Amino acid sequence: MKKHFAVAIDGPSGAGKSTLAKRAAQRFGFVYVDTGAIYRTVGLFVFQEGIDPGDKEAVKECLSKIKLQLCYDERGQRMILNGEDVSERIREPQISMYASAVSAHGCVRDFLLDMQRKLAEDYDVVMDGRDIGTVVLPNASLKVFLTATSEDRARRRYEQLCEKGIGCTFEETLRDLKQRDENDSRRSLAPLKAADDAIVLDTTGDTESESFDKLEKLILERLKK
Ligand code: DC
Repeated sequence: MKKHFAVAIDGPSGAGKSTLAKRAAQRFGFVYVDTGAIYRTVGLFVFQEGIDPGDKEAVKECLSKIKLQLCYDERGQRMILNGEDVSERIREPQISMYASAVSAHGCVRDFLLDMQRKLAEDYDVVMDGRDIGTVVLPNASLKVFLTATSEDRARRRYEQLCEKGIGCTFEETLRDLKQRDENDSRRSLAPLKAADDAIVLDTTGDTESESFDKLEKLILERLKK
């Protein structure tokens, strides 16, 4: 069986992972997999059920009621939760917090692991998340850890939310981002961290094109090998 090419992009929220990963997938004809969207979909379900996302047993119980599907159309990756397209709803700031909280539970991570690995078995992928290089695809062809200062990341996230018409202030965005960094890095299971063999790209102060050029160069080098 041919081993597919896989680019693993990890890093904290707002580092530019999804923008760069999407562009790289387009440029090289790979499938873009946004794993944060998958965790967000579980977070949304837990929110809709009125469950405390920190209550491991309650979250575990509700997983059996979730049917997750990932599909692609001209808008990109879409998340289908029990038959309903929830791709827009999962972007709300409140759901970010639920996603971060539920992602700390081993039952949730196990529930989603096969789905992510299967995509990389079937296609060449650019997959972004928090643990792609460390846990999901430890044999990825290229691992990149994207980072930037929290202020820079909050500014980008704030601009994205404003563009989508989601009301919030810069201060709230920065506070939420720091809180999520803390949750995602401190958890005991698959915490946010660079894999030992990841290349760290700091995008602070870069334009999107500057960061993309760096990523493109790394992928081209790896494809030649
Ligand atoms: O990338 P994002 O902000 O959409 O991710 C939402 C949350 O999901 C994030 O706070 C942590 C969690 N997550 C994770 O634990 N592992 C991943 N591979 C992707 C996201």
